[in-house]
Amino acid sequence: MKMEHRSAAQRPAILVARRIFPSTLQRLRQHFEVEANDADEEWSPPQLIERLQGKAGVLLTGTQRVDAALLAACPQLRIAANMTVGYNNFDLAAMDAAGVVGTNTPDVLTETTADFGMALLLAAARRVTESERFLRAGQWTRWTVDLFAGAEVHATTLGILGMGRIGQAIARRAAHGFGMRVLYHNRRRLDPAIEADCRATWVDKGTLLREADHLMLVLPYTPANHHIIGAAELAQMKPSAVLVNLARGGIVDDAALAQALREGRLAAAGLDVFEGEPNVHPGLLEVPNVVLTPHIASATLRTRQAMADLAADNLIGYLLHGRALTPVNHPPQPRA
Ligand code: DGY
Repeated sequence: MKMEHRSAAQRPAILVARRIFPSTLQRLRQHFEVEANDADEEWSPPQLIERLQGKAGVLLTGTQRVDAALLAACPQLRIAANMTVGYNNFDLAAMDAAGVVGTNTPDVLTETTADFGMALLLAAARRVTESERFLRAGQWTRWTVDLFAGAEVHATTLGILGMGRIGQAIARRAAHGFGMRVLYHNRRRLDPAIEADCRATWVDKGTLLREADHLMLVLPYTPANHHIIGAAELAQMKPSAVLVNLARGGIVDDAALAQALREGRLAAAGLDVFEGEPNVHPGLLEVPNVVLTPHIASATLRTRQAMADLAADNLIGYLLHGRALTPVNHPPQPRA
């Protein structure tokens, strides 16, 4: 992108709301007056509003809400750029009404996140973390025939709920790499050519729950998806199944999941996201057959750098050239 040479007074002011990579900050500083958060403080909504005064753009990490109250209190804000693919922190109706563009970071994290989905599935099914805890505790004294015998992964049936880019990348790994039969459920059925590439078959949600040997959740969080996997859905799954949630907290009813795991109504779970994170439902911390990770599915340095760079490109593209690269809304009357 062409470098703009503007005086400080002419350059738009932006806020970077969490600590990001120095190279990304340096790029942003070539174009904008940047207020950064090097201390990586987690600002409350009023603190965020205070820092957004006079700012035309903000780079967010997906946890801070952009809603009608914030938009009304920050009349100069024109763009909120998430460095996440999920954007459930945006109130899109309010942003459309206020003329504020939201952007996310699709594609750059797809393969990395799909890798992590397989990692969680394998770790939970094959009891990797549970057996490591046992070994580290000095409890491994001899070989026994069924020591940490887990669930099979290869050549089983994987169910995928939500079949966007990440779901498709997981399907390809499962079908081509692990010889799995892949079933999926999505609001919209995929193009037959994509289904063929992923070797995935669309089924209704009930069939998915009943037939999957393992179930992977990769759908976006929306109010309609709140607790889309609750006690009733867990009861339809095979007791030998592993559930993986890579998507967002709130999609699974964590209390119901903890109970199902405790009662042996589900073999295991692999969870990267939680309701009310970073808090984790105490019931999940008590059961051994769950692998818990702190929302790191996209966390390789290369991918996180690419996410930060794409968020920066969105700010540069929109504020300097009037065009965001990956917008998630198109306000009819953008703020000038
Ligand atoms: C995303 O990009 O939405 C991931 O969940 C990381 O926050």
